[in-house]
Amino acid sequence: MSWSQQRLEECIAERLDGATLVVVANREPYIHVFEDEEIRCMRPASGLTTALDPVMQACGGVWVGHGSGNADRVVVNENDRVNVPDEDPRYSLRRVWLTKKEEQGYYYGFSNEALWPLCHVVYKRPRFDTDDWLQYKSVNQKFADAVLEEVGDCPALVFIQDYHFALLPRMLKQVRPDLVVAHFWHIPWPNREVFRVCPWQEEILDGLLGNDLLSFHIQYHCNNFLHTIDRTLEARVDMEHFAVTRGGHTTIVRPNPISIDPEATASRLPMNLDHVERKLRKKWGLKDEKILVGVDRVDYTKGIPERLAAVDRLLTRHPEWKEKICFLQIGAPSRMHIPNYRQLNDDLHAQVDEINWRHGQGAWRPIVFLNEHHNAWQLATLYRIAAVGVVSSLHDGMNLVSKEFVAARTDRRGVLVLSKFTGAARELTDAVQINPYAVDEFAEALHVALSMPVEEQENRITRMQQQLAENNVYCWAGNLLSEASKLLQVPQSVEEQIAQAVEELV
Ligand code: G6P
Repeated sequence: MSWSQQRLEECIAERLDGATLVVVANREPYIHVFEDEEIRCMRPASGLTTALDPVMQACGGVWVGHGSGNADRVVVNENDRVNVPDEDPRYSLRRVWLTKKEEQGYYYGFSNEALWPLCHVVYKRPRFDTDDWLQYKSVNQKFADAVLEEVGDCPALVFIQDYHFALLPRMLKQVRPDLVVAHFWHIPWPNREVFRVCPWQEEILDGLLGNDLLSFHIQYHCNNFLHTIDRTLEARVDMEHFAVTRGGHTTIVRPNPISIDPEATASRLPMNLDHVERKLRKKWGLKDEKILVGVDRVDYTKGIPERLAAVDRLLTRHPEWKEKICFLQIGAPSRMHIPNYRQLNDDLHAQVDEINWRHGQGAWRPIVFLNEHHNAWQLATLYRIAAVGVVSSLHDGMNLVSKEFVAARTDRRGVLVLSKFTGAARELTDAVQINPYAVDEFAEALHVALSMPVEEQENRITRMQQQLAENNVYCWAGNLLSEASKLLQVPQSVEEQIAQAVEELV
């Protein structure tokens, strides 16, 4: 039986048996911001929050996250909580406030200038700064305090997200060894040679071994993690059962690929699609060109310059596509206080201008760059009206844009061009797979995708949709939370204790 939101809801309610579910993620799923003196609720551009929000809507519980919106403080109650989503509250969001100094050191600094490049290995040098590290530690402690306050004395399953919280599992277990702590690491784990340059590697690894369950998207990252432990710490690494024992406590390490809710994506398509498409084409100055679409945060791991270079090369090698195609790049600005991100944003504008100048003819330009955030409804429409979806990450834990593109193709048309270096490439084997570093190969793949017969498009999209229907986000959460909840020891009521004692007697 495949997983649905309802099955997850029933299964987790039964497994938790009264224990609280607490999700901890730096990024909050709903951000409140002032706009023209009104308060607007926004959804951030983050695969993590997109995937986890429907899970929390099914399971209920508390999401502990950084309150980063400028109107966030206005809408919370006296316990810094707000129920979300606004229109139909299903769970509670507990906001943790950070000072500018904490945000700079913990989020921009250690998380995104040290761990992010360290784990992605896309040839951006990690920056290890002692002050950032100290802020990272103290913010992990701040989140630990918030989680402990949320759970009180009750049994709970704490489900931690990502590289912002490597130290949190150990901090929680030191105070409450009975808590079940599971952690999903959404980005790759590098091999041990790469990881060993980190000056605080022992503390990070020891922090992560506070988990009962630690999960990555793919087995390869689990193996990298186990090898890293084996080389760095006093611990027993069991490669047969994928487990690590240190100081009498065992951490199970498992692969579990994250996904989306494909039905929810498809349901965001407008009824009057043709009308919306006409309006959008007019807005972007397009006639009937075939659209190729890329949707990313502006991040150097996403391979955006490589993709634009491939469009450039395509138009040089196959000039017959001139005036027949348009590459639409949505680039949501991201982490703009970090120099590498600001630089990339500027470089992209320059690269687009250069390519448009070189190949443009009359009113036609080959690339439209929309350097702003788009919501899930707008994105679903874009995926649906494009001929080709392009995902060219240089390295990516999973990449959910590729899955959203497939899910939005209710017409069973369209071609996905997908980097081999994404976790998604292991599941979406019917995509046209590319090495984004190989510009000629990439340009040829775009040509193949644009020329693909309709019947082949339909076969490929159908198979990928079947795979998504089976392995949706409820399957991801169901497997993970079921495994973790086996470790819960919910205190028995007096009646249950008597019943068990009687059973043991007879
Ligand atoms: C990646 C990370 C997430 C993060 C997202 C957006 O997907 O794995 O943890 O939320 O990027 O980045 P941001 O820094 O804006 O939260």
